[in-house]
Amino acid sequence: MNKSYLLAPSLLSADFSDLRSAIAQIEASGGDMVHIDVMDGHFVPNLTFGAPVVRSLRKRTRLPFDVHLMVSNPAALVDDFVSAGADYICFHIEAEVHAHRLLQRIRELGCKAGISLVPSTPVSALMEVLPFVDLVLVMTVNPGFGGQEMIPSCLEKVTLLKKIRQENDFSYIVSVDGGVNCKTLPSVLAAGTDVVVSGSAFFTGELNC
Ligand code: DX5
Ligand code: ZN
Repeated sequence: MNKSYLLAPSLLSADFSDLRSAIAQIEASGGDMVHIDVMDGHFVPNLTFGAPVVRSLRKRTRLPFDVHLMVSNPAALVDDFVSAGADYICFHIEAEVHAHRLLQRIRELGCKAGISLVPSTPVSALMEVLPFVDLVLVMTVNPGFGGQEMIPSCLEKVTLLKKIRQENDFSYIVSVDGGVNCKTLPSVLAAGTDVVVSGSAFFTGELNC
């Protein structure tokens, strides 16, 4: 059966000692892109992947890489991640004062540019940059950890972003990240998301029930 959304499994919940198998599992399960959570231990508490890991994984799949930068200084990292093989790079509006400049830089490098927002940030904080983004990543948990419970009110942002897109003829896709499982998936899809990120539920096999 054709699904109405793109599935982006997150490597955050994979076995880090066997990322090659995780990529193969994503391909075999019909994943549409690979979500790569980059954490710097500063913007969020944990440390995860750097560009060298992405470069190695690039040799293992043709699936698009959806790199989610949860870092305090995203401008310092985008060139490396593009050269390592990222297809989308998304950074947090809360982390970058000069968001237009960084979005433009990502596009100049030939990559799709995304913006993300934590649950406490309203969609209004993105208004000035929405004409210049290819993806909006709506965080439905506070970033930093997999396996958290979704904050359901964040899904209203998805509906609002779809409305703004339609009214202005913008072209970004909307992605939902955090706490998606078989119980929350129906409400995520009802909100109209284009992309579903799933970490723990995907890798435990609990996304579909
Ligand atoms: C959270 C990350 C998410 C995470 C989602 O900080 O941005 O991408 O992997 O994990 P689940 O699906 O387990 O909430
Ligand atoms: Zn993420």
